[in-house]
Amino acid sequence: MSTPIVIDCDPGHDDAIAILLALASPEVELRAVTTVAGNQTLEKTTRNALQVLELAGRSDIPLAAGADAPLRRHLRTAADIHGETGLDGPNLPQPTTRPVDAHAAELLADAIEPGVVLVPTGPLTNIALLLERHPDVRDRLDRIVWMGGAIGLGNSTPAAEFNAFVDPEAAAAVFSSGIPITMIGLDVTHQALFVTEHAARLRNTGSVGRTVAELADFFLPVYRRFGFSGAPMHDAMAVAHVIDPTLVATLECNVAIETRSQYCDGRTVADRWHVLDAPRNARVSIDVEAERFLELLVARISSLR
Ligand code: BDR
Ligand code: CA
Repeated sequence: MSTPIVIDCDPGHDDAIAILLALASPEVELRAVTTVAGNQTLEKTTRNALQVLELAGRSDIPLAAGADAPLRRHLRTAADIHGETGLDGPNLPQPTTRPVDAHAAELLADAIEPGVVLVPTGPLTNIALLLERHPDVRDRLDRIVWMGGAIGLGNSTPAAEFNAFVDPEAAAAVFSSGIPITMIGLDVTHQALFVTEHAARLRNTGSVGRTVAELADFFLPVYRRFGFSGAPMHDAMAVAHVIDPTLVATLECNVAIETRSQYCDGRTVADRWHVLDAPRNARVSIDVEAERFLELLVARISSLR
């Protein structure tokens, strides 16, 4: 039985690898891709997503562009992490297709049937818009598995992870929606580092493996600057959690999103120890079998040509 998924993303090196992991995995069926402004502008993340589908020979998968800015804030991109294109490093094929002529929220509303899992790997702007425009989607959506947030420290600020920091109001709307949501945060993504040996194993497996190795050639040195020995493949872990739910351990607790703080905007305030009398509205990830995740990632990407 394969789980139907839709990915809402802002590629982004790890978003691109998340899409490829989904395409390589029989446990999930990627029904649609939508794009949001985040790591780069919407124009760039949309082009990047089209190029990734083209690379994998899957330009048949419908793709729609969504929000070009957060709900109520100016866009802050991550060119320092992902480069000027948002996907610096490899030469990607030119897209031969265009986005569908609809906003991401519309494509998501169409694609979300009972049993579909929504996997956002960027700021939650499109998902907040989806819930506002199509509140009925709550009844159809199985759950959301989001890469974002952290119980511990952030990466955009000491308090906030990038996807939460870019659009805290959207994150607040999604976390208070009542839809089951799993947060794959930095607490687990930082435990599994993709290193040069992983890239070396992929480089000669075919054009997809070579491209992922070249993405890593750009991405790993970026993380080394912060003292990491490799790069977390944040977004791919969210997809991996749908593929194999036993990879990541989670616990249910209350998560509130800070939207009005000088220092802590975008903080995902997770009540890990249940000290508040607040509803358990999310599952947060607390541990990952890092080796098993990385081996799955390398094996699956190697299988693509
Ligand atoms: C998240 O931020 C982005 O830069 C990555 O693509 C990932 O989704 C990690 O904080
Ligand atoms: Ca991302």
